[in-house]
Amino acid sequence: MALLEAKNVDYFYQDGDQRRFILKDTTVSFEKGRFYTILGQSGSGKTTLLSLLSALDSPKAGEILYNGENIQKIGYEKYRRDDISIIFQSYNLIPYLSAAENVQVPMAITDNKLPDDKKAVAYNLLDYIGITRDKADRLVNQLSGGEQQRVAIARALATNVDIIMADEPTGNLDEEMEQEIVDIFKELAHKHGKCVIVVTHANEIAQQADDVLYLRKGVLKTHE
Ligand SMILES: Nc1ncnc2c1ncn2[C@@H]1O[C@H](COP(=O)(O)OP(=O)(O)O)[C@@H](O)[C@H]1O
Ligand SMILES: [Mg+2]
Repeated sequence: MALLEAKNVDYFYQDGDQRRFILKDTTVSFEKGRFYTILGQSGSGKTTLLSLLSALDSPKAGEILYNGENIQKIGYEKYRRDDISIIFQSYNLIPYLSAAENVQVPMAITDNKLPDDKKAVAYNLLDYIGITRDKADRLVNQLSGGEQQRVAIARALATNVDIIMADEPTGNLDEEMEQEIVDIFKELAHKHGKCVIVVTHANEIAQQADDVLYLRKGVLKTHE
Protein backbone atom coordinates (compact mmCIF):
# COMPACT_ATOMS: atom_id res chain seq x y z
CA MET A 1 0.00 0.00 0.00
CA ALA A 2 1.24 3.49 -0.85
CA LEU A 3 2.17 5.81 2.01
CA LEU A 4 0.48 8.81 0.41
CA GLU A 5 -1.93 8.90 -2.51
CA ALA A 6 -3.95 11.42 -4.44
CA LYS A 7 -6.91 9.74 -6.12
CA ASN A 8 -8.83 11.37 -8.96
CA VAL A 9 -8.23 14.81 -7.51
CA ASP A 10 -9.76 17.91 -9.11
CA TYR A 11 -9.03 21.48 -8.14
CA PHE A 12 -10.43 24.57 -9.87
CA TYR A 13 -11.19 28.22 -9.34
CA GLN A 14 -14.67 29.46 -10.11
CA ASP A 15 -14.49 32.32 -12.60
CA GLY A 16 -18.03 33.63 -13.08
CA ASP A 17 -19.94 30.59 -14.29
CA GLN A 18 -16.72 28.99 -15.63
CA ARG A 19 -14.46 26.57 -13.80
CA ARG A 20 -10.76 27.14 -14.37
CA PHE A 21 -9.16 23.77 -13.64
CA ILE A 22 -5.73 23.71 -11.98
CA LEU A 23 -5.71 19.93 -11.45
CA LYS A 24 -7.81 17.47 -13.39
CA ASP A 25 -8.37 13.88 -12.32
CA THR A 26 -4.92 13.70 -10.73
CA THR A 27 -3.87 10.31 -9.41
CA VAL A 28 -0.41 9.77 -7.94
CA SER A 29 1.16 7.74 -5.17
CA PHE A 30 4.24 8.14 -3.00
CA GLU A 31 6.30 5.55 -1.08
CA LYS A 32 8.74 5.61 1.80
CA GLY A 33 12.46 5.81 1.02
CA ARG A 34 12.05 7.67 -2.24
CA PHE A 35 12.88 11.20 -3.33
CA TYR A 36 10.21 12.65 -5.65
CA THR A 37 10.24 15.91 -7.53
CA ILE A 38 7.23 17.63 -9.02
CA LEU A 39 8.34 19.77 -11.94
CA GLY A 40 6.30 22.34 -13.82
CA GLN A 41 6.31 25.91 -15.05
CA SER A 42 5.26 28.79 -12.85
CA GLY A 43 1.48 28.74 -12.52
CA SER A 44 1.18 25.05 -13.44
CA GLY A 45 -0.37 24.14 -10.07
CA LYS A 46 2.63 22.77 -8.14
CA THR A 47 1.88 24.73 -4.97
CA THR A 48 -1.80 23.83 -5.31
CA LEU A 49 -0.98 20.11 -5.46
CA LEU A 50 1.35 20.37 -2.46
CA SER A 51 -1.25 22.27 -0.46
CA LEU A 52 -3.76 19.47 -1.10
CA LEU A 53 -1.23 16.76 -0.19
CA SER A 54 -0.43 18.68 3.00
CA ALA A 55 -4.06 19.41 3.98
CA LEU A 56 -3.69 23.17 3.72
CA ASP A 57 -6.61 23.09 1.28
CA SER A 58 -9.12 20.44 0.20
CA PRO A 59 -9.74 19.00 -3.26
CA LYS A 60 -12.95 19.87 -5.12
CA ALA A 61 -13.26 16.19 -6.04
CA GLY A 62 -11.31 13.03 -5.28
CA GLU A 63 -9.38 12.20 -2.14
CA ILE A 64 -5.99 12.22 -0.45
CA LEU A 65 -5.12 8.99 1.37
CA TYR A 66 -2.44 8.57 4.04
CA ASN A 67 -1.73 4.89 4.75
CA GLY A 68 -4.94 4.16 2.89
CA GLU A 69 -7.07 6.46 5.05
CA ASN A 70 -8.71 9.63 3.77
CA ILE A 71 -6.93 12.56 5.45
CA GLN A 72 -10.27 14.22 6.02
CA LYS A 73 -11.15 11.26 8.23
CA ILE A 74 -7.82 11.48 10.05
CA GLY A 75 -8.55 15.19 10.52
CA TYR A 76 -6.60 17.87 8.67
CA GLU A 77 -5.11 19.37 11.81
CA LYS A 78 -4.01 16.05 13.24
CA TYR A 79 -2.54 15.01 9.88
CA ARG A 80 -0.57 18.26 9.63
CA ARG A 81 0.60 18.00 13.24
CA ASP A 82 1.59 14.34 13.37
CA ASP A 83 2.06 12.89 9.89
CA ILE A 84 3.80 15.38 7.59
CA SER A 85 6.22 18.31 7.54
CA ILE A 86 6.52 21.11 5.02
CA ILE A 87 9.49 23.27 4.05
CA PHE A 88 8.80 26.57 2.28
CA GLN A 89 10.89 28.67 -0.07
CA SER A 90 10.94 31.56 2.40
CA TYR A 91 11.78 29.28 5.37
CA ASN A 92 8.84 30.51 7.53
CA LEU A 93 10.87 30.46 10.74
CA ILE A 94 9.87 32.44 13.83
CA PRO A 95 12.26 35.43 13.81
CA TYR A 96 12.31 36.12 17.56
CA LEU A 97 13.32 32.55 18.42
CA SER A 98 16.73 30.91 18.12
CA ALA A 99 17.38 28.11 15.64
CA ALA A 100 17.14 25.49 18.40
CA GLU A 101 13.89 27.02 19.70
CA ASN A 102 12.40 27.03 16.20
CA VAL A 103 13.13 23.31 15.89
CA GLN A 104 11.36 22.64 19.19
CA VAL A 105 8.12 24.40 18.20
CA PRO A 106 6.48 21.46 16.37
CA MET A 107 7.71 19.07 19.07
CA ALA A 108 5.60 20.94 21.60
CA ILE A 109 2.49 20.52 19.45
CA THR A 110 2.68 16.95 18.11
CA ASP A 111 1.10 13.88 19.72
CA ASN A 112 3.96 11.74 18.35
CA LYS A 113 6.09 9.99 20.91
CA LEU A 114 9.44 11.79 21.14
CA PRO A 115 12.43 11.64 23.49
CA ASP A 116 11.96 13.61 26.74
CA ASP A 117 14.94 15.88 26.20
CA LYS A 118 13.57 17.93 23.31
CA LYS A 119 16.34 20.47 23.52
CA ALA A 120 18.96 17.75 22.98
CA VAL A 121 16.98 16.41 20.01
CA ALA A 122 16.91 19.91 18.50
CA TYR A 123 20.69 20.37 18.87
CA ASN A 124 21.33 16.89 17.45
CA LEU A 125 19.12 17.51 14.42
CA LEU A 126 20.74 20.88 13.78
CA ASP A 127 24.18 19.30 14.08
CA TYR A 128 23.17 16.54 11.65
CA ILE A 129 22.01 19.16 9.16
CA GLY A 130 25.22 21.17 9.51
CA ILE A 131 24.32 23.90 12.03
CA THR A 132 26.97 24.23 14.74
CA ARG A 133 26.07 24.75 18.39
CA ASP A 134 26.89 28.49 18.43
CA LYS A 135 24.68 29.06 15.39
CA ALA A 136 21.90 26.95 16.93
CA ASP A 137 21.65 29.50 19.76
CA ARG A 138 21.42 32.51 17.44
CA LEU A 139 18.19 34.20 16.43
CA VAL A 140 17.35 32.80 13.01
CA ASN A 141 17.51 36.18 11.27
CA GLN A 142 21.20 36.27 12.21
CA LEU A 143 21.79 33.25 9.96
CA SER A 144 22.35 33.15 6.19
CA GLY A 145 19.61 32.00 3.81
CA GLY A 146 21.19 28.57 3.40
CA GLU A 147 21.51 28.20 7.17
CA GLN A 148 17.90 29.25 7.71
CA GLN A 149 16.75 26.64 5.21
CA ARG A 150 18.78 24.03 7.11
CA VAL A 151 17.00 25.08 10.30
CA ALA A 152 13.67 24.66 8.49
CA ILE A 153 14.74 21.14 7.44
CA ALA A 154 15.76 20.29 11.02
CA ARG A 155 12.36 21.58 12.18
CA ALA A 156 10.67 19.37 9.56
CA LEU A 157 12.49 16.36 11.00
CA ALA A 158 11.72 17.20 14.63
CA THR A 159 8.38 15.39 14.86
CA ASN A 160 9.78 12.22 13.28
CA VAL A 161 7.24 12.09 10.46
CA ASP A 162 7.52 9.87 7.37
CA ILE A 163 6.66 12.53 4.81
CA ILE A 164 8.70 15.67 4.15
CA MET A 165 7.31 18.05 1.53
CA ALA A 166 9.06 21.13 0.23
CA ASP A 167 7.84 23.95 -2.03
CA GLU A 168 10.71 25.41 -4.09
CA PRO A 169 13.04 25.00 -1.08
CA THR A 170 16.13 26.25 -2.90
CA GLY A 171 14.45 29.11 -4.76
CA ASN A 172 16.26 31.72 -2.66
CA LEU A 173 19.66 30.00 -2.58
CA ASP A 174 22.72 30.04 -4.81
CA GLU A 175 23.68 26.94 -6.80
CA GLU A 176 26.21 25.52 -4.40
CA MET A 177 23.82 25.81 -1.46
CA GLU A 178 21.04 24.41 -3.63
CA GLN A 179 23.04 21.24 -4.29
CA GLU A 180 23.86 20.81 -0.59
CA ILE A 181 20.17 21.02 0.30
CA VAL A 182 19.26 18.55 -2.47
CA ASP A 183 21.93 16.17 -1.12
CA ILE A 184 20.25 16.36 2.30
CA PHE A 185 16.88 15.44 0.74
CA LYS A 186 18.45 12.46 -1.02
CA GLU A 187 20.00 11.26 2.20
CA LEU A 188 16.71 11.64 4.10
CA ALA A 189 15.02 9.39 1.55
CA HIS A 190 17.74 6.84 0.96
CA LYS A 191 19.37 6.57 4.38
CA HIS A 192 16.49 7.42 6.70
CA GLY A 193 13.57 6.00 4.73
CA LYS A 194 11.62 9.25 4.46
CA CYS A 195 9.21 9.99 1.66
CA VAL A 196 10.53 13.29 0.29
CA ILE A 197 8.39 15.30 -2.13
CA VAL A 198 9.97 18.44 -3.55
CA VAL A 199 8.25 20.91 -5.85
CA THR A 200 10.56 22.79 -8.18
CA HIS A 201 10.76 24.50 -11.54
CA ALA A 202 14.50 23.70 -11.76
CA ASN A 203 15.26 20.85 -14.12
CA GLU A 204 18.71 20.19 -12.57
CA ILE A 205 17.07 19.47 -9.21
CA ALA A 206 14.22 17.48 -10.67
CA GLN A 207 16.51 15.11 -12.55
CA GLN A 208 18.23 14.01 -9.33
CA ALA A 209 15.06 12.45 -7.97
CA ASP A 210 14.08 8.79 -7.96
CA ASP A 211 10.82 9.79 -9.63
CA VAL A 212 10.15 12.97 -11.57
CA LEU A 213 6.52 14.00 -11.97
CA TYR A 214 5.69 16.66 -14.49
CA LEU A 215 2.69 18.94 -14.11
CA ARG A 216 1.32 20.50 -17.26
CA LYS A 217 -2.13 21.89 -18.04
CA GLY A 218 -3.62 20.30 -14.94
CA VAL A 219 -2.27 16.85 -15.75
CA LEU A 220 0.47 15.10 -13.80
CA LYS A 221 2.68 12.69 -15.73
CA THR A 222 5.80 10.67 -15.15
CA HIS A 223 8.55 12.67 -16.83
CA GLU A 224 9.84 11.23 -20.11
N1 LIG B 1 -7.04 32.61 -5.30
C1 LIG B 1 -6.87 32.31 -6.59
N2 LIG B 1 -7.84 32.60 -7.49
C2 LIG B 1 -7.70 32.28 -8.80
N3 LIG B 1 -6.61 31.68 -9.32
C3 LIG B 1 -5.62 31.38 -8.47
C4 LIG B 1 -5.68 31.67 -7.07
N4 LIG B 1 -4.54 31.24 -6.49
C5 LIG B 1 -3.81 30.69 -7.47
N5 LIG B 1 -4.44 30.78 -8.66
C6 LIG B 1 -3.96 30.27 -9.97
O1 LIG B 1 -3.74 28.88 -9.90
C7 LIG B 1 -2.69 28.49 -10.79
C8 LIG B 1 -1.76 27.54 -10.09
O2 LIG B 1 -1.07 28.23 -9.05
P1 LIG B 1 0.08 27.54 -8.21
O3 LIG B 1 -0.39 26.23 -7.70
O4 LIG B 1 0.54 28.53 -7.21
O5 LIG B 1 1.21 27.29 -9.33
P2 LIG B 1 2.77 27.04 -9.19
O6 LIG B 1 3.08 26.74 -7.76
O7 LIG B 1 3.06 25.89 -10.11
O8 LIG B 1 3.45 28.28 -9.67
C9 LIG B 1 -2.04 29.78 -11.27
O9 LIG B 1 -2.44 30.00 -12.58
C10 LIG B 1 -2.59 30.83 -10.33
O10 LIG B 1 -2.70 32.06 -10.99
MG1 LIG C 1 4.35 27.64 -6.41
